[in-house]
Amino acid sequence: MNKQQAAFIKTVKTFYKKSGRHDLPWRLTTDPYKIAVSEIMLQQTQVNRVKEKYAEFLKAFPTVQKLANASLQEVLSHWSGLGYNRRARFLHAMAKTVVENHKGKFPQSFEGLLALPGIGHYTAGAISAFAYNMPVPIIETNIRTVYFHHFPELMHALNGYTVNDKELMSYVAQTLDHKNPREWYWALMDYGSYLKQSGIKIHRASKHYAKQSAFKGSLREVRGGILKIITKNSVSAAQLQKQLSFEKDRIDQALTALQQEKFITKKGSVYSIA
Ligand code: ADE
Repeated sequence: MNKQQAAFIKTVKTFYKKSGRHDLPWRLTTDPYKIAVSEIMLQQTQVNRVKEKYAEFLKAFPTVQKLANASLQEVLSHWSGLGYNRRARFLHAMAKTVVENHKGKFPQSFEGLLALPGIGHYTAGAISAFAYNMPVPIIETNIRTVYFHHFPELMHALNGYTVNDKELMSYVAQTLDHKNPREWYWALMDYGSYLKQSGIKIHRASKHYAKQSAFKGSLREVRGGILKIITKNSVSAAQLQKQLSFEKDRIDQALTALQQEKFITKKGSVYSIA
């Protein structure tokens, strides 16, 4: 732990003590089922909206057994208003697996959770941390915001270049509170949410964000990014995608235009400056 990391941890904890969202309903439980429901809901829906639906959903399906025994139709009807029905299908399948293969008890390890249908790295990690207080490194949108804000060296790739979640993950692991990961992640999420609300714009460089905003950036910006790379090296479209934080379609569109205008040429799958 270096000085910068220690100061960072202090900042996050101080914020949380004073301004944390201590009363969020899914923070008042350590039941892995309830945590799983909240995390899956929170993946694509705003906290305030989830608050209402979470209570309603758990009233209808208070246990994993109740959810597993319900029909998909019932589950979907209680999901309505949250959008992305795929998440409800996964949640239902997950409940069935827990009941059928695990006697109704959630797996106690990260790997066990990850093996459940519809549970990815983030959700398995979040359940490990919030239900079991296990120090598993996790990244989600608010956590990402906090680290980019505090560790500008993670941003070396701004201006159209990408930052890898792997690099970010090692920072998360290094600063993780092993005594109380549960509270540490609450603090990180609350601080990240606060930073976003206060309007900082810092996460352009993440590949993850590029995927979410399909037509971010003008075509001129995309072309500029491509030319900057191609003037140094001949590259394939796949390599460009790795280095640029724009949508694939956007990059292809710019490549086609640059070829037509004879700025660049294509040989096999490799683009070079003309
Ligand atoms: N508390 C626990 N998980 C959370 C999440 N994904 N977003 C906001 N607050 C949370």
